[in-house]
Amino acid sequence: MRLNEQIKILGRKIILVPYEARHVKKYHEWMSNDTLRQLTASEELTLDEEYEMQMNWRKDDDKLTFIVLDAEIYNRGKDEIAAMVGDTNIFLHRDPDIDQQVAEAEIMIAEPDARGKGFGREAMLLMLKYAQSHLKLDKFQVKIDMDNATSLHLFESFRFVETNRVEVFHEVTLERLITPDWISWLDQQVELRIKRYERNDFQP
Ligand SMILES: CC(C)(COP(=O)(O)OP(=O)(O)OC[C@H]1O[C@@H](n2cnc3c(N)ncnc32)[C@H](O)[C@@H]1OP(=O)(O)O)[C@@H](O)C(=O)NCCC(=O)NCCS
Repeated sequence: MRLNEQIKILGRKIILVPYEARHVKKYHEWMSNDTLRQLTASEELTLDEEYEMQMNWRKDDDKLTFIVLDAEIYNRGKDEIAAMVGDTNIFLHRDPDIDQQVAEAEIMIAEPDARGKGFGREAMLLMLKYAQSHLKLDKFQVKIDMDNATSLHLFESFRFVETNRVEVFHEVTLERLITPDWISWLDQQVELRIKRYERNDFQP
């Protein structure tokens, strides 16, 4: 969606910036890794398809995405590509059975050296706070591989609870209703600092 195309979110360890065409090449290199594709339930795309996907994520009203930058690397050289470590996104859909607006969340810290430093936790919390405060949502949802202990632990620590388990897909669904209590909890975890993002006219 276009909601976030001119903003960046400043965390303590990471910075979230909108997913732009200039980020696609490195993103595509990450997604050539079989394990990462399996953990994120992603299909292998050609570079051209990845550029098309980036445009769709920008244009479509049901998709919100940010690239995660390592703040220390970025602040050293102001080189966004060198500072890229992962992405976080949200896909919106309506659950007609219960008439609720659901935001399915994803987080990936793709660079192995960047894992286990708190980047995934901070990036996801900032995304949840941004989405909760800028979109009309009833609940967050996440689908995680049953063996992905790190990710399960992460979302349980965000007070998500298991609502479904599909053995054939080896997948667990965790959900979090957006209640006033949970919003207060979220507000104690992160502070949303939003700045203007200077766009770049890079064309592939
Ligand atoms: C899952 C992922 C996003 C976590 O991000 P991260 O930056 O590595 O994790 P953080 O450093 O923020 O740590 C988050 C929590 O996981 C725990 N953790 C981190 N690495 C861990 C590991 N190897 N094993 C078990 N727990 C681990 C941390 O202790 C922390 O919990 P705590 O705050 O209670 O101590 C990241 O590892 C990743 O992208 N993995 C591959 C793709 C993926 O699985 N995506 C999720 C799909 S839903």
